[in-house]
Amino acid sequence: MFQFSFLEILLYLVFILALLICKPLVQMLLMKMKYGKKMYMIYYPFFGRGIHYKNQIKRYNDIMHFEKMISQENPEVEIIVNNSFMGLTQIFIKPDHIKQILQNQDLYRKARKVFLFGEKMFYKGLVFQEGEDWKLARNVLSKSFEFEQLRARIPLIKKLCEEKFQQVQEKEAIDIINISGNIVGEVITQSFFSQSFKNINGQTFLSELVNVLISIISQYRVAPYRCSTRALIFGEQEFPNWTLSKVEIQLLARLQNIKDILKISIQERQKMQNKPADFLTAYIDTIQQNPKLTEEHAIQQYILLIFAGIDTTSNLFGACCYALSVHPEWQIKLREEIKKQYQTYEQLNSENINMSNLITNFINECMRMYTPVPYLIEREVIKDHKVGDYFLKKNSQVQLCVLANNYDVNKFPNPFNFNPNRWNTQNIDPFLFIPFSTGKRNCIGQHMALMEIKCLLIYLLMNFEVNLEGENHVWTQKFVYTIQNEKFISLKRLAK
Ligand code: HEM
Ligand SMILES: *[C@@H]1O[C@H](CO)[C@@H](O)[C@H](O)[C@H]1NC(C)=O
Ligand SMILES: *[C@@H]1O[C@H](CO)[C@@H](O)[C@H](O)[C@H]1NC(C)=O
Ligand SMILES: *[C@@H]1O[C@H](CO)[C@@H](O)[C@H](O)[C@H]1NC(C)=O
Ligand SMILES: *[C@@H]1O[C@H](CO)[C@@H](O)[C@H](O)[C@H]1NC(C)=O
Repeated sequence: MFQFSFLEILLYLVFILALLICKPLVQMLLMKMKYGKKMYMIYYPFFGRGIHYKNQIKRYNDIMHFEKMISQENPEVEIIVNNSFMGLTQIFIKPDHIKQILQNQDLYRKARKVFLFGEKMFYKGLVFQEGEDWKLARNVLSKSFEFEQLRARIPLIKKLCEEKFQQVQEKEAIDIINISGNIVGEVITQSFFSQSFKNINGQTFLSELVNVLISIISQYRVAPYRCSTRALIFGEQEFPNWTLSKVEIQLLARLQNIKDILKISIQERQKMQNKPADFLTAYIDTIQQNPKLTEEHAIQQYILLIFAGIDTTSNLFGACCYALSVHPEWQIKLREEIKKQYQTYEQLNSENINMSNLITNFINECMRMYTPVPYLIEREVIKDHKVGDYFLKKNSQVQLCVLANNYDVNKFPNPFNFNPNRWNTQNIDPFLFIPFSTGKRNCIGQHMALMEIKCLLIYLLMNFEVNLEGENHVWTQKFVYTIQNEKFISLKRLAK
């Protein structure tokens, strides 16, 4: 038996505390000495950036206030360093550094620690795949995501807009992000499987899937201490069954149920003679030539697209609605433009969907001010190297902030003014404005997203007046950058 005195245990605890508090602080101070004014420190013991974010919301009603102000308040800063339990993160904001990193993506891998049960949900999906797996999957899917292929979906998108907005309660605060999310989710499902799926437990298949994903991912928030301790002891992904809570077991069963339904559909498709031209067929054709790809890959690829596609697109549309409601003059301007370009909704098609510069400028300005993905997914450094003057050590964490440049006073004068006209003359550095990232791992869904946003926007403005509900809206980060209160607008049908 070992014998520890009370004092020894106390000293030991103090030592651990000191380590947790001091180690990141000392590391950070050493970096600060090296980089001086070019580096901005965000240090909070233990909890790291969480506290910083809480303060931003409390003071400014905007979790991204610091990022938006940095070009004005700290113009010399090139790198931000923050801390958490997991160590330090080095955040780059300058276009040159972002360029260097995005053009050399083989020096990094996506951090996979972030999502509970990620291996069972979507880590075999494009956002998280690496190396040859990624290359193969990206090849399979890229063609399906080009505008030329996607244009065939426009009639479906239009039909869904008409359907879902029929049910809208007029003059009452509504959850526009949920409504548009349902449309986007249906488009992804139809593009992948050319079919819809039956309700589960009285919910649409899509709501069940989205609810299960959200519930699993939020376990870290619901039970932070249990989840973090477990991850510390057993690693991030595979842990013994007895460590699962009742809720987690239920969620995993619901996930499995969904995956079984998808699997049956895939197996039926494999037997089919005349396969419809959709994402699944593209996948199955490759599965047959490449035994490394399995049904599980196809299932996870679909779940990944749901995860990556819905919230991003529907929140961008939410931001467009917000902008329309706080800038009624733009609502009028765009409605006139739409009347002139399209007359009726039937006339909107793949030939004319891009016609209007005014609409494109408006969407760009919404993406500049309310970009759904202000930070790219965290990367881990694979081998020692330098980015500009900054030395990146193997296994250290790197992040790219997309948002800071969108508010750079030198590139976008009066950045807090909503001014779509600035895009008429804007001649911008291709690494400055990157709402969809750029380089070989850019957003594969960007054409789909823009196509949907345009269909939604045109339908909305043809049929409704958009009004703001409530005041002092708080911008926060859920999965994406968004307004905290979901019901922030109402619609009023226009007289025909
Ligand atoms: C306004 C809507 C959207 C925005 C702002 C957006 C943004 C992004 C960004 C910034 C990335 C890079 C992430 C990183 O490297 O850390 C990305 C990647 C990706 N996005 Fe999107 N996205 C949108 C819509 C969509 C849609 C509709 C889909 C699919 C249906 C989609 C599928 C993907 C996939 C699969 C990747 C990973 C690509 C790869 O690594 O090869 N996105 N997106
Ligand atoms: C640092 O801040 C970024 C961006 O907000 C966040 O995603 C990341 O998790 C933080 N890193 C640490 C170690 O807390
Ligand atoms: C979103 O819409 C779906 C489908 O109409 C509905 O089942 C679900 O309850 C809604 N979710 C929220 C949070 O309102
Ligand atoms: C853990 O539980 C899952 C599903 O409940 C089951 O499939 C698996 O075999 C179990 N693993 C062990 C080691 O008991
Ligand atoms: C329309 O815009 C999309 C996405 O922005 C682009 O990929 C496509 O090539 C454009 N199509 C036409 C016909 O100009």
